[in-house]
Parts: sequence; C-alpha cells; structure tokens
Amino acid sequence: MKSKLLIVDDETKILRSLKFLLEDRFEIYTCENSSEALEVFKNEKIYLVLLDLRLKEGSGLELMKKFLQFEPNAIIIIMTAYSTIENSIDAIKSGAYYFITKPIDNDQLILLLNTANEKLQMYQRINSLEGHIRKDIIGESYPIKQINDLINKIKDTNATILITGESGTGKELIAQKIHRTSNRADKPFVTLNCAAMPGELLESELFGYKKGAFTGAYKDEVGVIRRADKGTLLLDEIGEMDLRLQSKLLRFLQEKEVRQIGDSKTNEVDVRIICITNRDLEKEVKAGKFREDLYYRINVINIVAPPLRERMEDLKYLVAYFIDKYNISFDKNVKGITDEAYEILSNYTFKGNVRELENIIQRAVLLNTSEYIKHDLLHIESQEMASNSNNSTNNHVKIYEGENMKEIEKKVIKFALEKNNQNRKWTADSLGIAERTLRYKIKEYNL
Ligand SMILES: Nc1ncnc2c1ncn2[C@@H]1O[C@H](COP(=O)(O)OP(=O)(O)OP(=O)(O)O)[C@@H](O)[C@H]1O
Ligand SMILES: [Mg+2]
Repeated sequence: MKSKLLIVDDETKILRSLKFLLEDRFEIYTCENSSEALEVFKNEKIYLVLLDLRLKEGSGLELMKKFLQFEPNAIIIIMTAYSTIENSIDAIKSGAYYFITKPIDNDQLILLLNTANEKLQMYQRINSLEGHIRKDIIGESYPIKQINDLINKIKDTNATILITGESGTGKELIAQKIHRTSNRADKPFVTLNCAAMPGELLESELFGYKKGAFTGAYKDEVGVIRRADKGTLLLDEIGEMDLRLQSKLLRFLQEKEVRQIGDSKTNEVDVRIICITNRDLEKEVKAGKFREDLYYRINVINIVAPPLRERMEDLKYLVAYFIDKYNISFDKNVKGITDEAYEILSNYTFKGNVRELENIIQRAVLLNTSEYIKHDLLHIESQEMASNSNNSTNNHVKIYEGENMKEIEKKVIKFALEKNNQNRKWTADSLGIAERTLRYKIKEYNL
C-alpha cells in the first residue's frame, strides 16, 4: 500500500510536476493554500508532508506548527528557496524533519522521501503494537530491583534526582519511569540536553526570553522550565553546563522562580528536576569545573545505573525483550537465539552497555533468515577487532553475507571518511560522488 503524501505549494506548476514525479511511489494530495491543506491533512490522516514555506495565503511555518499540533509524529519536509534559508532553520527548530532547497533535485527528494517513509512505517508498526511491548526497565538482577524499589519510594516526592552511570546503561529510561509512575505523570515531561548547544543558547532555552531581548528573539518564548511547570524537567548531560549557567540554575533551584531574558518580572514554577550525567561530578567539582553547591543541590537522591557487565544475569531477559521489540518493528518472526550465539554474548564485555546489546540484536533480527539467531549474525568478534585496531593500517571494508546495500554503503562511507580525516570534499572525490550527496548520506546514516 502506498503512503499518503501531501504537497503544499502556491505554485500550480510545481504541484503538477511534483505530483508527476512522485505519484508512482505515493498517494498524492496537493493543496495551494493553508486552510485547505490543514483540512486535508486532518481528514485524510496524513503523516508525510512536503511544504513550501512561502505561501500566498498564510505562513508555511504556522501551518507546519498546526500540522504538528494535530499530529506530533508527522514528518514535514520543507521546500525553500535559498533566500529563505533562515526561515528553514526556524522550521527545523520547530520540528520540521528536513529541508531541501529549490530548484529541487529530484533524486535527492526521492531519497529523502524514501528514508522518511521508512522511518514512518517503522514508527507506525511499533505504535500499533504499543502495549504489546512493555516499555520498562528490563531486568531481574539485584541492582535493577534496587533501582525499581528506589523509584517507587521517591517517585512522588519533589526531591531533585541525579542519575549517573556509563553510556547506554538506561539512565534516560530510569528518568522516564520516575515521571511515568509519579503523580505528575499526566503533566509535561520535558527534556533538555545541556550538551546540545552553546551556553548562551542553552540559557535562553532554559529560561526563555521576551521578544526583542536579543537579536533573533522574534517572539516571546517561555523556556523549558516553564514548559515543564507541574511536571518534570530532565536535564541530560548536566556535566556539560558552563559555570555561569550553573549559578543561574542554582538560583532557580533555590528560589523556584524564573525570569525570562529581557523580562522584569519573575514567574513561579513547580517542576521536578531530574539530572543525568555520565561524568564523575565529584571529580569535576574538585577540578573546579562544576559548582560544589549545585552538586549538593541536585544530588539529593542519587541513582546509579549499573553497567551491563555487572549484571549479566539480566542478559537473557534483555535479549528476549529486544528480539520481541524488533520482531515487531521489522515485521519478523525470530523465535530466539542459538545456545552458541548466546554463549558468545555472555562472554562479551559490552562497553556500550544495553544500547550496544540492543544494536547487536536489532541488526541480527533484521538480517536473520532462519528461526533462531546464529552466532555469525552477531558480528561481535569483528567489532572487537575493529575497535582494537582503530589506528592500524586497516585497508579494506569487510562485507558479510546477508548484508544489504545500505549497510554496505554505510560502511564504505564511514571507511572513506576515516581514510580522509573526515574531510568531506576529499571523501566525496575519492568515492566519485557529489559533496552534497555525501552530506546527505552522512545525515541519513547518522555518521
Ligand atoms: N534495563 C533496560 N531495559 C530495557 N531497555 C534498556 C534498558 N537499559 C537501556 N535500555 C535501552 O538502551 C538504550 C539506551 O538507553 P538510555 O538512552 O536510557 O541510556 P543512557 O544511559 O541515557 O545513555 P547515554 O549516556 O549514552 O545517553 C535505549 O534504547 C533504552 O531503551
Ligand atoms: Mg541518555
């Protein structure tokens, strides 16, 4: 069955040519104005939209926000002329999936739509079977039981919580569970990653700003603290926050009031704060990189997510859980894993913890063609070897039976990037593709 695609543009000519280009692949709906587009979007339950930002009647950005308000999982691709690139950046910030510039490169557009469509279908499959899958902290080991007990005890308090642990151990999952089981569950759960942006921007994201407070402040913005009012605010990678902002955060934690940048008055808020870090904050305090008073203020309750290698008795539950999960999302029917393959997993160190295990199982389920996953689909030996010989003169890309073109392509690009010191121009040249194509693929494969 073809997916529905809505194309919104005020130029009839463009609508016609895009329809012609894409109608073999998608069930196309076209609209020239906002109000009609919104109607079609709602009535036809469309999840994929190609939208021109500049419409004769109404703004494309506003329309996009309405789409996303109605259906937060919709994928909106923005089409734009070079002159409006800045608006496109705004659009991305407001939730657009991607933007492409006009004149449109047909190949690029088709590639983009195909990727978006795959993402959408996977998402819909997972969603339609939601409930089938327990989105919980899986494990029966002592540390996991302790964490669950602790969550139970503290979920309804307002105490600030610090979750620490190595990468991929499930810190975010713990934070989600605290909120989901707390008496704030029906209120917002807002996440801000403190490593994602420079200090100034982070400050404006946190506290919000008034229109005109600085260049680029086109409108009032309340900030994530106020958006999380009555709910929970998760500050991920808190260890990356700079010292100046740390003082501001501390002041907020003490006074429970926020002042938008450029505002004269303050607003009272009621938020539960959860912080996550994989840094050793005590060490950071000693090194003068993290404020001691803030450290004590956020570390009221500390939950430590243990590395997987310290609770290998959970391995069997996790493996079964991820096989279930990816059977659903890839529409497969894998029954389990062979003893031999399980043996390999249980002797593996999992430096990337549960996330690494999840990736291994995801991939194995995808590639598996028999009832049970065999050891050759785990690719663990090769992973360890690859990481051990990172800097050696590795001169070829390994290809395994059963891999599809995309996986091979991804490996080849990754390899070429490494060979060329991440220089995109050289890499593109060495692969004989356009730099723009390379950029797109880097994004597509998350390299
Ligand atoms: N105990 C668990 N049960 C089920 N899934 C888990 C568990 N622990 C981790 N996961 C899964 O592993 C992945 C990584 O978990 P999560 O994002 O919570 O890790 P993290 O500790 O926040 O990592 P990072 O520090 O890299 O951000 C997610 O897909 C998560 O659902
Ligand atoms: Mg995380």
